[in-house]
Amino acid sequence: MEKANERVLVTGGTGKTGRELVRLLAEGGVPVRAASRHPGRPAGGGAEAVEFDWARPETHAAALEGVGSLYLVPPALVADASGQVVPFLRRAVDGGVRRIVHLSAMGVDAAPEEVGLRKIELSVMGSGAGWTILRPNWFMQNFSESFFLAPIIERGELPAPTGSAAVSFIDSRDIAAVAAAALVEEGHEGAGYALTGGRALTFGEAAETIGTTVGREVRHVDVEPETMRRVMVEWGMPGDYADMMMGLFGGISAGWSAAIDDSVGRVLGRPPISFADYARDNVDAWLPATTRSA
Ligand SMILES: NC(=O)c1ccc[n+]([C@@H]2O[C@H](COP(=O)([O-])OP(=O)(O)OC[C@H]3O[C@@H](n4cnc5c(N)ncnc54)[C@H](OP(=O)(O)O)[C@@H]3O)[C@@H](O)[C@H]2O)c1
Repeated sequence: MEKANERVLVTGGTGKTGRELVRLLAEGGVPVRAASRHPGRPAGGGAEAVEFDWARPETHAAALEGVGSLYLVPPALVADASGQVVPFLRRAVDGGVRRIVHLSAMGVDAAPEEVGLRKIELSVMGSGAGWTILRPNWFMQNFSESFFLAPIIERGELPAPTGSAAVSFIDSRDIAAVAAAALVEEGHEGAGYALTGGRALTFGEAAETIGTTVGREVRHVDVEPETMRRVMVEWGMPGDYADMMMGLFGGISAGWSAAIDDSVGRVLGRPPISFADYARDNVDAWLPATTRSA
């Protein structure tokens, strides 16, 4: 019989890291509940799905029922989500959550306390639950699931105002694997893991690798910042979030995103997934629908 509060609640359970984490936990026999605004979508494995909306606190109690561990992904595309996340954390810990693994972002530990993501980190650390904070660099999956995808498919172009600066992109499957370890193994409490790939690539190298994998030319276009902002807003990103993203592109240009950390290897006992392997595993994303593998 399932013990009380043994269940793991995965917020962002349909997202780039969350859906893979749900699969890993379900495959490992861990009771897991995937939270989403659209719970009808398959959650993967033997997991449950629950309706959950950060902006609708009335959906929170059912999601937290019987939950002892939480994977916390603040809502994507909200510049400061602390007003939604902080009260939820209090409710979660009051209801029996004892372990929190929080998906933050690289560099947030150095951000001022008034920055939304840092406010959430501090709230996790002060929650009274055992915590682990994951601070990943840019996800490889942004090229196959985000605002970079349409220009790659439509024009063979990867727009980014980054010159020849490099980024140690990480595969979101590695982030999920680290999250799974932090949720089910002992020894990760109080740790903050900077998560990067094993190599830093320029956007030119990323474009070339995608092009080689797909079998067509894909080239990096070093666009003006206004053009980049327009690409993101046309994709559906709110303006204030796009402004924040432009700050992150500035950080890339300044060389801040090229650092390599060995946390993935230390936690997983294997090297991070390479960009070439990521591209091979996601090749369908860049192919016309008619030529995709079944
Ligand atoms: N992408 C990167 O390169 C990167 C790098 C570092 C850190 N991060 C951090 O990772 C997190 C995830 O970012 P992402 O852009 O990659 O997104 P994602 O995890 O791929 O997708 C967003 C997830 O959040 C859920 N969600 C969005 N709004 C929600 C709401 N109002 N209520 C409930 N669930 C909601 C979505 O579920 P439904 O749509 O199914 O409801 C989806 O599962 C962000 O906090 C970001 O700061 C991302």
